[in-house]
Amino acid sequence: MAAESEEGADVFDSMDGRFQARLKGLRTMTKSFAGTAGPIEATTNYAILEAKFDLKVLDRLHEPSFVAIERSTASGPSYMVYEVFNVAPMHFQMLGVSASVPQQIREEFLDRVSESWGGSDETWIDISAVPTGYKMAIDRGRPQFERSRLIPLYGSRAHVLSDMAVKEFLCVKDGLKIGDVSGLKIGLEVDPEALIRYHIGIFGFTGVGKSNLTANLLRKLMERDPSLRVCIIDVSGEYPVHLADKLSFGRLYSTEDYGEDVRILAQSQVVPETLEARLNDQGWLVGMLQGLKAQGRIKVVDLSETMTTWTLQKVYEVLSSIAEDKKTGYLAAEHCLDELRKHFMSKGIPRRTELLNLSREDVEFIIGQLNDLKGKMHEKSGALKDIEEAVEIITTLTSEKAEPSTDHRRPEDVAKDLLSGEDRLFIVYAPDPDEARSFVARFLGRLLYLKKVYGYRQKVLVVLDEAQEFAPGDARGPYEDSSKAVEALLRQGRKYRAFALISTQRVARLNTNALQQLHSYFVSTLPRSYDRMVIAESFSLDYSVLEKTSQLSTGEWLFVSYKATRQKNVPVFIRAENNEDAVYEFIRTSNAT
Ligand SMILES: Nc1ncnc2c1ncn2[C@@H]1O[C@H](COP(=O)(O)OP(=O)(O)OP(=O)(O)O)[C@@H](O)[C@H]1O
Ligand SMILES: [Mg+2]
Repeated sequence: MAAESEEGADVFDSMDGRFQARLKGLRTMTKSFAGTAGPIEATTNYAILEAKFDLKVLDRLHEPSFVAIERSTASGPSYMVYEVFNVAPMHFQMLGVSASVPQQIREEFLDRVSESWGGSDETWIDISAVPTGYKMAIDRGRPQFERSRLIPLYGSRAHVLSDMAVKEFLCVKDGLKIGDVSGLKIGLEVDPEALIRYHIGIFGFTGVGKSNLTANLLRKLMERDPSLRVCIIDVSGEYPVHLADKLSFGRLYSTEDYGEDVRILAQSQVVPETLEARLNDQGWLVGMLQGLKAQGRIKVVDLSETMTTWTLQKVYEVLSSIAEDKKTGYLAAEHCLDELRKHFMSKGIPRRTELLNLSREDVEFIIGQLNDLKGKMHEKSGALKDIEEAVEIITTLTSEKAEPSTDHRRPEDVAKDLLSGEDRLFIVYAPDPDEARSFVARFLGRLLYLKKVYGYRQKVLVVLDEAQEFAPGDARGPYEDSSKAVEALLRQGRKYRAFALISTQRVARLNTNALQQLHSYFVSTLPRSYDRMVIAESFSLDYSVLEKTSQLSTGEWLFVSYKATRQKNVPVFIRAENNEDAVYEFIRTSNAT
């Protein structure tokens, strides 16, 4: 094996020969949990390695680590890659110390144990690790990975993967760095296209850094891909500060009308305390918002249901009611209805389309057909009056005058603005949950519709913070419309280049259909183990690795992706950058100039 260990010199981190470990056992552990939505079970298959006791090894393995367990195959030597989730220093003497041993003898035992760590053969380290589902071979000094469910053999030697090997295992070439791999000196680089194309989830208890991570990811994604458009539904008023540097090519929409004075708007926004403490000048936010206002970048969302909801269907109904009356001219009405249907069906425009969204040419077509029909009707018939009225309504509705003012935009207009304008970042501040839901339902409905029917190709990423407010598990009553819209975005969005990033502190409250559409996700500490069980189950992720998230601190995440990492579905612990650093830098430099 000498040649092989030489070959693995860069692939393994032997810790100066201190790491000496072998496979001692393979176990299965099942956990079950009775939650409100029924019992959930999670099974873990894991390996126990026994390593020679060494303090350096013990400390190193407390950090996230991958180990490779030797496994000869018919085609040559290879290694099974495992991820460590627990280390335990063991002492032979301790196995005999129980409560039944008299206190004095226990004391003597413990003295001996305490003195002999590492110094005697009675000490060792038990390492528990779960399979990643990958096999590694070493080809001319480089690690090669492929999927494999082979089981290693008892007694096989194990090695800790080096930084270089972990990088080869997980990182995409020239990828986007989303954080540093915990315990190693490498960044985690992922495929940004795949990351957004298959939707992103961010799960963690309040205060773990969800908004901070979201803003940081968005900044990086937008910088990487200038064609990406982002729309954030911001219920807490956090993002104008978190993405202050990106609003110079963005827009801020608010469901509240703050008028000309931006000071109250500024007060409604959250400035993280940690950022505030670093800034001398507290007036920068008002200054920034004033600048945006002057450039026409601050707009009001108008949620009132206007009467402008005449759809094609409505026109068809007017005509069919005339046809059904069987009075003079009904044949002409039938013919007109057929013509209109044929025209719009051949263009693939569905009947629920609002007239406002038709092209000028199509509106003219309808009016032309109705005017023709008018000529064929009896002068005094009620049908003639109906048609005249319809023509008048359609003409006013679709005339320029009917366009809403440019500062008051309906959710449908916001969708159109996002797809057809130049601006790349939209932040929609909607503090009232009912209004936010109504906005999301109408905005998403129109966004998908415009993309489907009109073929807008822009890549759009929709961000839903506090997603349980929009797509809860029990989506009745006021939640129904927004929940359906979010599900539609997650299910069909990919086809039309509309993607979602959703974050929540209560995974178990989220619509499970929605949850299962997310292919990349970040997990931090969650308040309840039930939430972790839901994640383990929804994504068939190992529960023992997920358990480790309860030890994470602010800014640390477990990241898993089916698509964006080099190998699929390998959980990796990362430390994210602090988004406030970028915001601070922006404010400092823009004040200086
Ligand atoms: N990557 C990070 N590095 C350093 N500090 C961070 C990081 N992420 C977040 N923080 C700190 O943690 C605090 C909470 O972050 P954030 O507001 O993003 O949490 P949250 O999960 O969105 O909370 P909530 O659920 O209340 O919205 C912030 O004040 C920030 O200073
Ligand atoms: Mg937040």
